[in-house]
Amino acid sequence: MRDLEHLFDKNRKWAEGISQVHPGFFSQLSEQQAPEYLWIGCADSRVPANEIVGLLPGELFVHRNVANLVIHTDFNCLSVIEYAVSVLKVRHIIVCGHYGCGGVRTAFGGSRLGLIDNWLRHIRDLQERHRAELAAIHDEEQRIDRLCELNVIAGVRHVSQTTMVESAWREGRGLVVHGWIYSLKDGLLRDLRVDLANQAAADALQQSTD
Ligand code: CO
Repeated sequence: MRDLEHLFDKNRKWAEGISQVHPGFFSQLSEQQAPEYLWIGCADSRVPANEIVGLLPGELFVHRNVANLVIHTDFNCLSVIEYAVSVLKVRHIIVCGHYGCGGVRTAFGGSRLGLIDNWLRHIRDLQERHRAELAAIHDEEQRIDRLCELNVIAGVRHVSQTTMVESAWREGRGLVVHGWIYSLKDGLLRDLRVDLANQAAADALQQSTD
């Protein structure tokens, strides 16, 4: 018997289930993808992008990494953004964090895990930049959750600063960057209301978060 046979079983049932509800679904989808949304989220297994927003294959273009970071020189994330904006012409880019993020918690506590500490250093920098605001929150869990929110806002800001998004806005393309956060405790999304639909809004967010 093949290793992980149960996953192949689940896969067959999943594909059959979709084909029953939507006959021809996979053959149509194999021709092209035309998602309206790019999702940038955490790699955490409890935050599965499509399931959370109830979207089928083909409806959401997804990039996930530890702690949903958007880093100016991360060519993996930048390539995803470029493909989504320039080729797929998505209308929305959603940076979605989650409360209780292990990456954010690790950065916050300063524990040492190895290579990943360098990746999480970006969150430590953010923590230092917002030291006063965070220090005013007495409960440690709430402080970490606020850092999770600040990390999403930084991600939105960094997406808006990419050459691809700046060019799209310069060309007058309808493209909106959103910042959301997901709660593991109730399965619900919260909108952080930092939507950016043009360069002026991005500049205003930059000034208010400097
Ligand atoms: Co996480």
